[in-house]
Amino acid sequence: MGILENKARARLFYKYLSKIYDRINPFIWNEEMRDEALEWLALEQDDRVLDVGCGTGFGTEGLLQHTDDVHGLDQSIHQMQKAWKKFGKHDRVRFYRGDAERLPFADNTFDHLWSSGSIEYWPNPVDALEEFRRVTKPGGRVLVVGPDYPNSVVMQKLADAIMLFYDEEEGDRMFSEAGYTEFDHYIQQASPGSPKAITTIATVPGDTADVDTTAENEVIVDDATDEPVVDESTA
Ligand SMILES: C[S@@+](CC[C@H](N)C(=O)[O-])C[C@H]1O[C@@H](n2cnc3c(N)ncnc32)[C@H](O)[C@@H]1O
Repeated sequence: MGILENKARARLFYKYLSKIYDRINPFIWNEEMRDEALEWLALEQDDRVLDVGCGTGFGTEGLLQHTDDVHGLDQSIHQMQKAWKKFGKHDRVRFYRGDAERLPFADNTFDHLWSSGSIEYWPNPVDALEEFRRVTKPGGRVLVVGPDYPNSVVMQKLADAIMLFYDEEEGDRMFSEAGYTEFDHYIQQASPGSPKAITTIATVPGDTADVDTTAENEVIVDDATDEPVVDESTA
């Protein structure tokens, strides 16, 4: 497991990287790639979407171009502080500090889920993918962007030492193990020679008729702590 596939280390890493993140990010993950991925997610105006590992809000900004009901979650307060500067703390987006592998939301809370550039830091990605399936309604789409596994042996060794890089075969294993049966992977790249991203779009299995449409599945937030209040009977 790579050195950054550890929640405490990733938090410390982003305490410092948050200062320059928006300046270096476009070399690896740019607007063109994000907008292409957003087309695949095919959102409608009133869809409720969760952005997991929202960071400074680069994906969030793209999601807001498609729907007004956007929720962002990240484990790094330093990254989210940058996002608050862009969107306000309690304005267009609801923000939560939390862990991708243990989401503080009831089942079927969101229509779709987006997570760009965060999976590489999770020690147990299958747990997080299961959580995504739980909080997203059956028939909803889960889109995950991660770093594609490099081809050269030297780069593979380096990549493995740092964090999770994976190819389509490993993507198949993780998504299947997390209970998805329908998914596709796409390879994206900012420019020739730059690191490639592997973007997976999965459909949440299950019968849409099983979702309780009478319940609002509201995300209720404690104003004092900014934490969602989860109904333990359903979460
Ligand atoms: C490369 S940034 C991606 C930010 C944004 N999604 C984007 O597209 O630019 C990765 C983010 O994942 C967050 N992260 C890492 N591990 C996490 C976890 N276990 N739960 C929630 N967020 C996590 C980091 O704090 C960081 O903000």
